[in-house]
Amino acid sequence: MPDALELLKTRRSLKPVELAEPGPSAAEIDMLLTIASRVPDHGKLIPWRFIVFEGAARLAAGDVIVAAFRVKYPQSKPEHVETERKRLARAPLVIAVVSRAGAHVKIPEWEQVLSAGAAAMSLVLAAHALGYGATWITEWYAYDRRVLDALGLKEHERIAGFIHIGTPVHAPEDRPRPPLNEIATRFTNGGDSS
Ligand SMILES: Cc1cc2nc3c(=O)[nH]c(=O)nc-3n(C[C@H](O)[C@H](O)[C@H](O)COP(=O)(O)O)c2cc1C
Repeated sequence: MPDALELLKTRRSLKPVELAEPGPSAAEIDMLLTIASRVPDHGKLIPWRFIVFEGAARLAAGDVIVAAFRVKYPQSKPEHVETERKRLARAPLVIAVVSRAGAHVKIPEWEQVLSAGAAAMSLVLAAHALGYGATWITEWYAYDRRVLDALGLKEHERIAGFIHIGTPVHAPEDRPRPPLNEIATRFTNGGDSS
């Protein structure tokens, strides 16, 4: 298990196709979900839930994606359709993080959405901590109402991400990160030095 700080300093996403078998075991999936549900949650609203896609169910979900794809692109070529069918079957395990944020008398919806993002990121980090690779993607089908209906999302629910998890086929190369002086400032009393 990598050191926590080292993991946080070096984590990188891999493409879904770069995440191979084996994927997490049933016990590891339970651990991932337990960790993902341990995030800050103003008002304890539990404004998120998870959908696990593994094994043959990934291609069954692919059929749902294909049905929506065919409506959007009726003239699509068979090879494109097959690519769509495999969308959720590229990695051994995909976990959808579903935001259940909604209007609330006290807790802003924005904060509920942020909590779903925190759950997704915890899922990514926990997968890495277990020695797997992970990537957080949405792609077009996360925003397609037909797909959302077929996956059982209610009208107000949204996909925060499809977290793809598997064994990395190679070590990822890093990408440039923003220099701290471009993204962080220190508040200095409005610059008044008198
Ligand atoms: C909400 C959300 C949705 C994303 N959706 C996609 C996506 O559909 N396709 C994609 O290539 N990357 C997507 N990304 C970006 C990747 O998760 C990843 O951050 C990016 O490839 C950079 O790699 P890194 O995590 O190693 O910095 C998304 C990120 C977030 C936060």
